[in-house]
Amino acid sequence: MNMKSDDIILSGKGVTKIYGFGPNRTVAVDHVDFSFKRGEVISIVGESGSGKTTLAKMLLGLTSLSDGQIYFEGKLRDIRTHRQKREYWKNCQAIFQDPFASFNIFRKIDAVLLDCIRLRHGRRLPDEQKVEMMREACRFVNLKWEELTNKYPFELSGGQQQRLMIARIFLLRPKILLADEPTSMIDACSRATILDMLMDLRSEIGMTPIFITHDIGLAYYVSDTVYIMEHGRFVESGSADDVILRPKEAYTRRLLDDVPKLHEEWDLSTV
Ligand SMILES: Nc1ncnc2c1ncn2[C@@H]1O[C@H](COP(=O)(O)OP(=O)(O)OP(=O)(O)O)[C@@H](O)[C@H]1O
Ligand SMILES: [Mg+2]
Repeated sequence: MNMKSDDIILSGKGVTKIYGFGPNRTVAVDHVDFSFKRGEVISIVGESGSGKTTLAKMLLGLTSLSDGQIYFEGKLRDIRTHRQKREYWKNCQAIFQDPFASFNIFRKIDAVLLDCIRLRHGRRLPDEQKVEMMREACRFVNLKWEELTNKYPFELSGGQQQRLMIARIFLLRPKILLADEPTSMIDACSRATILDMLMDLRSEIGMTPIFITHDIGLAYYVSDTVYIMEHGRFVESGSADDVILRPKEAYTRRLLDDVPKLHEEWDLSTV
C-alpha cells in the first residue's frame, strides 16, 4: 500500500464484551488489542462463536464495550450522543451476512438510497442531482435503477440485495467498511463479483475494508493483514503471508486444515 505505515485509522486497547451475568455470563470478546492501518485490507478470521460479530458490533458502535477503549483516527472514540453516533457512522459502515437484516423492510429502495445521500450530504442537494447519484451507484453494482424504483428490498433476489448494500456504501463513502461474512449467502460466482466490487470500491473511494470471516482462504485472497480470533482473543496476527503460509499457532493450522487446496499450493511453492 502507498500509505504511511504509522497512519492508524482504527485501534483498540483491551476491548472486551461480556454478555449476561452469573451462570449465563459469556465473555464474547476478551481484551483484544489491534491497530488497523488506513488503506489496508484487514481480515478477522475465526470459528463460529469466536466473537467476530460481537467485535464488529463494538467497532461499529452498535453495542457498548464492557471494558477497553476504541480509538478512531488516533482519538478516543466518543459516541455517547446520537449526533456523535451519526457522525461516526459517516466514517464507519458495515454490510452483514444477511443483507435482508440490513434494510428496513418498510422503506422502498429509493428511500434507502436517499437516506444514504442525506447522511452524507445533508438535505441541500437538488432532486436531479440525487437521482443522478442513485443512478450512478446502481450502475456501479450492475443494477438497473429503473427496475428498482418503487420496489421494496424484499422484492429483490439475494444477489441483488447484496449489490444494493454495496450501492449504499458507494453513496455513503465511509472511511471504514466492516464486511461480516458478506458472501456467505451466495454462490461462488456472485461471491467473486461481490468481492471484486468491494475491492473496486476500495480503490474508488479509498476506504479501509475489514472482512470478518471463518474462511481463511478468502482472507488470504483479499487481505494485507490477518487477525486470527479464538474464544474472544486474537491468538495470532500479521501479514497474510506470515499468518497463513507460516502460521505459528496450532489453532491457525487447524483452520488451515479445512482448506486443503491452499495447503497444497503452499506445499508446491516450497519445493
Ligand atoms: N446478544 C448476545 N447475548 C448473549 N450472548 C451473545 C450475544 N451475542 C453473541 N453472544 C455469544 O457471544 C459469543 C460470540 O458470538 P459472535 O456472534 O460474536 O460469534 P461469531 O464469531 O460472529 O460467530 P459466527 O461465525 O457463527 O457468526 C457466542 O458464544 C455467542 O453465543
Ligand atoms: Mg458472526
